Amino acid sequence: MDREVSLCLLGFLLLCSFLPLVSSFEPLNAEVVALIAIKRELSDPHGVLNNWDEDSVDPCSWAMITCSSQNLVIGLGAPSQSLSGTLSSRITNLTNLQQVLLQNNNLTGELPPELGSLPRLQTLDLSSNHFSGPVPPSLGRLSSLRYMRLNNNSLSGPFPAPLSKLPHLSFLDLSFNNLSGPLPLFPASTFNIVGNPLICGNNSKKEQCSTIPTPITLPFLLDSSQKRMKTEKLAVALGTSLGSCSLLLFSLALFLWRRKKQRHQSILGITG
Ligand SMILES: *[C@@H]1O[C@H](CO)[C@@H](O)[C@H](O)[C@H]1NC(C)=O
Ligand SMILES: *[C@@H]1O[C@H](CO)[C@@H](O)[C@H](O)[C@H]1NC(C)=O
Ligand SMILES: *[C@@H]1O[C@H](CO)[C@@H](O)[C@H](O)[C@H]1NC(C)=O
Ligand SMILES: *[C@@H]1O[C@H](CO)[C@@H](O)[C@H](O)[C@H]1NC(C)=O
Ligand SMILES: *[C@@H]1O[C@H](CO)[C@@H](O)[C@H](O)[C@H]1NC(C)=O
Repeated sequence: MDREVSLCLLGFLLLCSFLPLVSSFEPLNAEVVALIAIKRELSDPHGVLNNWDEDSVDPCSWAMITCSSQNLVIGLGAPSQSLSGTLSSRITNLTNLQQVLLQNNNLTGELPPELGSLPRLQTLDLSSNHFSGPVPPSLGRLSSLRYMRLNNNSLSGPFPAPLSKLPHLSFLDLSFNNLSGPLPLFPASTFNIVGNPLICGNNSKKEQCSTIPTPITLPFLLDSSQKRMKTEKLAVALGTSLGSCSLLLFSLALFLWRRKKQRHQSILGITG
């Protein structure tokens, strides 16, 4: 009898200890998955991405990441961190991104055309890297884009004409690449193309070829409150799961104790 009770309790304790495990089998956060895939294609000599942990509930406490108040990733900013490697096309899965700042690193390879599928992207700075290949025409689909810097890379191919159709684009720097013409007309926007020999070579008289780009500092989105909220949420979740577990354990113990007492009483011929 006692053995039965202790076996039962043991089983229950085991169940209790598996409860947190079971709840951690909830579907992985898609933004965590995408960022880990992005990290895998980068070489990070100073370890600035070391706290990117694939077991995280969400990436909001990670370095270089900015989240909205709904814990969605809206900013990825790692300028001047000596990152090398390529920019993963998985960036397309960070559908809430508003800002990507990866300037002044050592990134190589082509710009992923998938960058064009970020509907909320406002600021893109990939300047002073070693990107090569064409500027993907898909960037012409970035309908929220305001500021874009792709200067000081090794981009080639025709000037991305679809960019001239973007309604909010007010700053575009494509200087010091190897792009070719023709240039579309850019209404009312600052745009720089100096240092592209196929467009501005041969003593070109083009107005855009005499403008030296003014470096403007792009504001980086700030992240303040989310980290504390996250920790509190975790504490509450843990407390709730521990609390309900001990309540269940207590009820089970009570039930077994009462059953045992009842049986004992019926053996003695007393009705309970
Ligand atoms: C790029 O890498 C080279 C060595 O390969 C290093 O000397 C240079 O400082 C790096 N540049 C940046 C911006 O990290
Ligand atoms: C990432 O985006 C691609 C292309 O849109 C899609 O096929 C894939 O299912 C997405 N992956 C996740 C984990 O959301
Ligand atoms: C871009 O390259 C040009 C020419 O090499 C250089 O003068 C300029 O300082 C560079 N700009 C940046 C922001 O690195
Ligand atoms: C620029 O592109 C042209 C034509 O594709 C090529 O001949 C030239 O070597 C390139 N220049 C640089 C600096 O990459
Ligand atoms: C400069 O001259 C070369 C050779 O004549 C020509 O191919 C190129 O298109 C010219 N560039 C510009 C910007 O006119």
